[in-house]
Amino acid sequence: MRIQSTAPAFAVYVHWPFCLSKCPYCDFNSHVRHGAIDEARYLRAFATEIETTAARVPSRTVTSIFIGGGTPSLMRPATVGGILDAIARHWTIAPDVEVTLEANPTSVEATRFRGYRAAGVNRVSLGVQALDDPSLKALGRLHSAREALDAVAIARAAFERYSFDLIYARPGQTPDAWAAELERAIGEAAEHLSLYQLTIEADTPFAALRAAGKLAVPDEDTARELYDTTQEICTAAGLAAYEVSNHARPGAECQHNLAYWRYQDYVGVGPGAHGRVTIGDVKNATATDKRPEHWLMRVESRGHGIVTDDVLLRSEMADEFLLMGLRLAEGIDPERYTRLAGRALDPGRIAMLRQEGAIEVTPEGRLRVTRSGFPLLDAVVADLAA
Ligand SMILES: C[S@@+](CC[C@H](N)C(=O)[O-])C[C@H]1O[C@@H](n2cnc3c(N)ncnc32)[C@H](O)[C@@H]1O
Ligand code: SF4
Repeated sequence: MRIQSTAPAFAVYVHWPFCLSKCPYCDFNSHVRHGAIDEARYLRAFATEIETTAARVPSRTVTSIFIGGGTPSLMRPATVGGILDAIARHWTIAPDVEVTLEANPTSVEATRFRGYRAAGVNRVSLGVQALDDPSLKALGRLHSAREALDAVAIARAAFERYSFDLIYARPGQTPDAWAAELERAIGEAAEHLSLYQLTIEADTPFAALRAAGKLAVPDEDTARELYDTTQEICTAAGLAAYEVSNHARPGAECQHNLAYWRYQDYVGVGPGAHGRVTIGDVKNATATDKRPEHWLMRVESRGHGIVTDDVLLRSEMADEFLLMGLRLAEGIDPERYTRLAGRALDPGRIAMLRQEGAIEVTPEGRLRVTRSGFPLLDAVVADLAA
C-alpha cells in the first residue's frame, strides 16, 4: 500500500482547455482552435495565476496536482514542466505528491509520455472510452481501440501509476457486451479505473440526436443492470468502487479527486477552473473565466482570471460537503456536517433513509450510501440536505 502524505490535503488543479475536436457527448470546458496555440504565452499566464493564487493562499504543502482538460496531452512536455516548476516555486511540494495528467490515447500523444514523466508527472489518466472501433466512432473519438491499448501499454511502461476511463450505457450497449468489455479492460488495468455512465448533457450534439429520436440510450432498467454488472465485476476483480464512478485497489485511489470529495482545499488555475480554499475561518469559492482568450487577457492585465469569488455560507458549505462526501464509499462524518452547518442532520430523515435501505451507518459512526442507494444518490442528498 502506498504511504499517504501526513500533510493536510491541498490540491492544485490546472485546466488546459483545448482539444483537437469536440466529442458529441462532452460539455466540459474544451475548445477547438484551428490555428496554433501559443503555449509559451499560456505558460506565462499559468505561472502568473499560480503566483497570484499562492500570494492569496500562502504556506501550503501541495499534496496533489491534476492537469486536466480539454486535452492536456496536446501540451509539449516542456510546457507541463514549466507549470510544475511554477507550482514548486510558490508552495512546498509534499515528498509523495501525486501529479496526474489527463491524456487522450492517440499515438501522437503517447509519444510524449516519457517527456511528461521527466517533467515530473507521476500518474496519467487516459480517456480510452471504449474498446471497439464502431463504439469509438459513435462517440466521435479520434483514436482506434488498438491505438488506445497501445497508449495504455506505453503508460504502463512510463509511469508507476495510470488509470483509464471508459464510458458505458452507450447507445445499443447490452449488459453482456459491457461485461465482456469490462473484463477485457480489467485485464489492461493496473490499480485504478474510472467507469462513467453516459450522461446526455444539455446542448450537446448527443442531446439533439436523442431529442430527434436518433440516439437510443439504454432505458432506466438496462442502465441499472449495467451499473450492477459494473459493481459485481469490479468488486470480484479487487477494484471496488471508492466513489460512484471510480474504482481502485485499496491505497491506489486518486488522491486529487479524494481531496474534492472529502471537501478539502483545492485551488483552480487556468480557464474555467474552480477552487475551494479556506482563508481564515471561511471557505471561498472561486471560478475563473471559461473563455480561454478572455482568461488569458485577464491574467495578463490583472494577474488572475478569477470572475467569481464568494465566501460560502455555513449552509452552502454543509450542502457541498454532503453532496461530495456521499459520493464516496467511505461516506461522511456526521460530526463534520454539524460543525459546518451549525446544526445536526435530521435524525428523522436519517432513520427514514436507513429504513428504505438507501443509507447505512458504519461501526465508526460514518454515514454512507448503500449500493442500492447509489443509483438514487441525488435524491438521497436532496432529502438529507433539506
Ligand atoms: C474531462 S474528460 C477529459 C478527458 C480527455 N480529454 C479525453 O476525452 O480522453 C474526462 C472524462 O469524462 C468522461 N466524460 C465526459 N463527458 C461525459 C459524458 N457526457 N458522459 C459520461 N462520461 C463523460 C470521459 O470518460 C472522459 O474521459
Ligand atoms: S477530447 Fe475529452 S475534453 Fe475534449 S471534447 Fe472530447 S471528451 Fe471532451
